[in-house]
Amino acid sequence: MTYHAETRVLKVDAQQPDPEAIAEAARVLRRGGLVAFPTETVYGLGANALDSEAAARIFAAKGRPATDPLIVHIAAPEQLEQVAADVPALARELAARFWPGPLTLILRRNPAIAANVSAGGETVGVRMPRHPVALALLSASGLPVAAPSANLFARPSPTTAQHVLDDLRGRVDIVLDAGTTEVGVESTVLDITQTPPRVLRPGGVSLEALRALLPDVTYTPRYLQEEEAAAAPGMLLKHYSPRAKLTVYSGSRDAVLAAMQQKARDLAAGGQRVGILASEADVAALAPFAAEIISLGEAGDTEQMARMLFAALREMDARGVDVILARAPRLEGLGLAVFDRLVRAAEGDLIEIE
Ligand code: TXA
Ligand code: MG
Repeated sequence: MTYHAETRVLKVDAQQPDPEAIAEAARVLRRGGLVAFPTETVYGLGANALDSEAAARIFAAKGRPATDPLIVHIAAPEQLEQVAADVPALARELAARFWPGPLTLILRRNPAIAANVSAGGETVGVRMPRHPVALALLSASGLPVAAPSANLFARPSPTTAQHVLDDLRGRVDIVLDAGTTEVGVESTVLDITQTPPRVLRPGGVSLEALRALLPDVTYTPRYLQEEEAAAAPGMLLKHYSPRAKLTVYSGSRDAVLAAMQQKARDLAAGGQRVGILASEADVAALAPFAAEIISLGEAGDTEQMARMLFAALREMDARGVDVILARAPRLEGLGLAVFDRLVRAAEGDLIEIE
């Protein structure tokens, strides 16, 4: 099924969204339509989570496999019972500490939530975002809203309304445009149905911040779990991909820069257009070897990197490069999420240099 819609773009103020625009978008949600809206992480593609037909439209619009479950968004922690079958004390503690914000909790699903939202499974992901537009829309609709990132399946997540339109124009009823999102990578997905709790996807809440509350939380970096990934829905390695082929380099700075220079030279000699994603400090060393170079900011500023990453991947495609080379960030703070997205965009093509 393909879902065709005339897409309306409603510009709203990010801090104080126009109540009429919000009311109109909420009406569309209640009628079973699709609304793309900003969250603090990335734009989401929302539908009524209580309505399986509405949820099915999300999968159709994105071209997303029905085996990959959706995150349900709520306006207040009090709505948790509407989404989860039981709400353990730990969920309440985590909500009190991290909501509103970029943390998704995996809990047992309340049967009121449409089964296809959970891809037929027993669990459900739920979060309360902190973006004022998302909160206004969720309150006005009075609904739990299922919303994956508002990109076509396996494309980089959208951090602007234009990214949403580039992928989904004609497939969504309304796009609420409130400018660029703040965090830039998606929420951290934390499964608290297992003991100890396990991070399934690193994201906007850092592992360090989670450990302060949950000292025994576990996380297995994606490139160490390829076999598991092949078996688990939603953990597909191929994801967030630009059209260009991406390779990620990790290791000490000098060795990595030398390897990237050599690779870029070889590729260019073979007639390939090479794009490089670099930190500000590496731009001078790498620019002579690249057809296109985009800075992701200061090397230590993992928050800025997170904010810029997906737009940079899309921009490289717009500039028509064949290959992208990128240096892995430090694995601290949001660097863990940036690294995860890079390795997935690279489909696992990670070169570790001693
Ligand atoms: O920041 C975000 O989380 C954004 C904004 C829109 O809220 N949403 C988002 O959704 O990134 P999506 O669908 O693109 O990614 C959701 C991730 C997927 O990897 C999915 O497999 C996982 O969360 N997930 C959702 N429900 C799950 C469940 N019940 N069990 C395990 N993983 C789940
Ligand atoms: Mg996504």
